[in-house]
Amino acid sequence: MAVESEIKSQTNSIAAPEHEIILVRTPEERQQCYDVRIEVFHVEQNFPLETEIDERVLFLFFSLRTNAAHFLLRSTPSLTPIGTIRACRGKNYYKLTRLAILKDYRKYHFGAALVRFMHSWVARDAVQDPDVNAPPPASVNIVCHSQIPVKGFYAKFGYISEGDEFDEDGDPHQKMVLRLPIGSGLSTAESSLRPSS
Ligand SMILES: CC(C)(COP(=O)(O)OP(=O)(O)OC[C@H]1O[C@@H](n2cnc3c(N)ncnc32)[C@H](O)[C@@H]1OP(=O)(O)O)[C@@H](O)C(=O)NCCC(=O)NCCS
Repeated sequence: MAVESEIKSQTNSIAAPEHEIILVRTPEERQQCYDVRIEVFHVEQNFPLETEIDERVLFLFFSLRTNAAHFLLRSTPSLTPIGTIRACRGKNYYKLTRLAILKDYRKYHFGAALVRFMHSWVARDAVQDPDVNAPPPASVNIVCHSQIPVKGFYAKFGYISEGDEFDEDGDPHQKMVLRLPIGSGLSTAESSLRPSS
């Protein structure tokens, strides 16, 4: 693949199918992220479909510039969607949202691969502030609202629980925060990643 944003991801699993993680740039790729999310969050976990549709309607009908970057993990060479994650820009932080891996693929460390890929993108994005006179930050906070059974997954990456559990979309969640150091070490491909919208 010649496109810079398409790089092979590394996982610890020897048996993992061939795959790649891309920064989403086209409506078709974004739709594939929605398809994974609908399958996992609506069909499997029974969250309201509106939760996913809202964003699609906004994009298609109003062409709103979103402050979100979507990432898609797909098999190669078939390009079949397998997983997704989204990074949303806040004022002084980022939010990790919509992490989902199709059920049949939850044994290959794909969830971890998406989180690491997203962290690399955030580390680069956070220093590309339009205020060139401001010194680059040493770290950036990434917030996620974890479903309770998944807290241990995020804890593996250093996310720490903050505050009490709360209801979101009818299900208990826990705010978790990671202070991500911003340093060197990003690959050329990773450092070129920018969201399409
Ligand atoms: C959560 C999810 C994305 C994890 O993806 P995955 O590919 O199954 O997880 P990985 O294989 O990458 O797991 C990485 C590590 O976390 C561990 N882990 C995975 N799920 C975990 C959980 N629920 N609790 C604690 N640890 C977990 C794995 O055992 C693995 O540990 P290891 O590195 O010591 O081997 C996936 O299970 C999923 O899509 N679940 C449904 C949607 C969902 O709940 N999304 C999160 C919304 S907040």
